[in-house]
Amino acid sequence: MKTDVVAVDPAVPNAEALAEAARVLRGGGLVAFPTETVYGLGANALDASAVARIFAAKGRPATNPLIVHVSNAGEARNVVADWPASAALLAEHFWPGPLTLVLPKRDTVPDVVTAGGPTVAVRVPAHPVAQALLRAADLPIAAPSANRSTELSPTRAEHVLHGLGGRIEMLLDGGPTSGGIESTVLDLTATPPRLLRPGPIGVAELEAALGSLIRVRSLTVAAQNSPQPLPSPGMMPRHYAPRTPLECVEAGKEPERLALLLSEKRRIGWVTFADSGVAPPGVLVRVLPSDPAGYAAQLYAVLHELDAARLDCILVTMPPDTDDWLAVRDRLRRASHS
Ligand code: TXA
Ligand code: MG
Repeated sequence: MKTDVVAVDPAVPNAEALAEAARVLRGGGLVAFPTETVYGLGANALDASAVARIFAAKGRPATNPLIVHVSNAGEARNVVADWPASAALLAEHFWPGPLTLVLPKRDTVPDVVTAGGPTVAVRVPAHPVAQALLRAADLPIAAPSANRSTELSPTRAEHVLHGLGGRIEMLLDGGPTSGGIESTVLDLTATPPRLLRPGPIGVAELEAALGSLIRVRSLTVAAQNSPQPLPSPGMMPRHYAPRTPLECVEAGKEPERLALLLSEKRRIGWVTFADSGVAPPGVLVRVLPSDPAGYAAQLYAVLHELDAARLDCILVTMPPDTDDWLAVRDRLRRASHS
């Protein structure tokens, strides 16, 4: 299949391109599109065979459920069976935006979307292209990140093409995404609400909006040590990873580690953030911003770039172990091979 790549203005997307993308979706096809976090791979969420094609294109296990994207909170209520006060509060505060809520699903949502489970993940994206596409298609759109399963999420159209070119009908190229890491996923079927994936909206912000505490724990560790099914299957310890081995190192320990890696004459990439040190010669260095949002916005693009540079190892300096870096540290741990 040939993937039709159509450039759109990210702020004011072209109506013809959107009409064509809406036609593809209504016909059961797949359209990749930018959101404010990463690119999504969309299908009509109410069409089970269209959704099945998402799993095939990504090589995604059928056990990993998808996020349903809708244009506003009213539409969200059409795919969920319950709309608790907590959902109303969070929707009011954070939608449109990078927050995904897990709620009991309605029967109209096909089982393939939720991997057979009784809950559905739903979010209202803020990106103008995603918003315009949802309105043009007038459908809920099931969309995981537009990458092959277990690989890095795409923040640019070329990342999508690299992984899924020839496997999907259409790609709306709206340029680089601004957020850079995937949405925060919060399970509202648990009491207290449980954080399933840290993301751009932090725990403190969620708790302030709710006026109560949420439950946060290391799902990676829990998943490794527990015979129970994973609460969020996408939180498998190894995920979002480049092909090149990636190793995380705590700040301050890099000189030692770099020296050792270099003594083995390996081609090394080093991802660090402002002011954390001077690189030895022969190391390919990428310096990311020292604030969490700025860092997140560029992280995947840098990892995609280094992954293409045929290195033997990518070393990444871990940002501080503080709440505002929680989501970035989570993605780095998942990207590491150790
Ligand atoms: O920012 C994002 O969320 C992007 C853009 C495209 O919206 N999407 C995204 O989708 O990251 P995906 O499929 O790569 O990640 C969805 C996560 C997975 O960890 C999945 O297991 C979890 O949400 N999830 C989906 N439905 C769920 C459910 N019913 N219960 C628990 N976890 C669920
Ligand atoms: Mg993903």
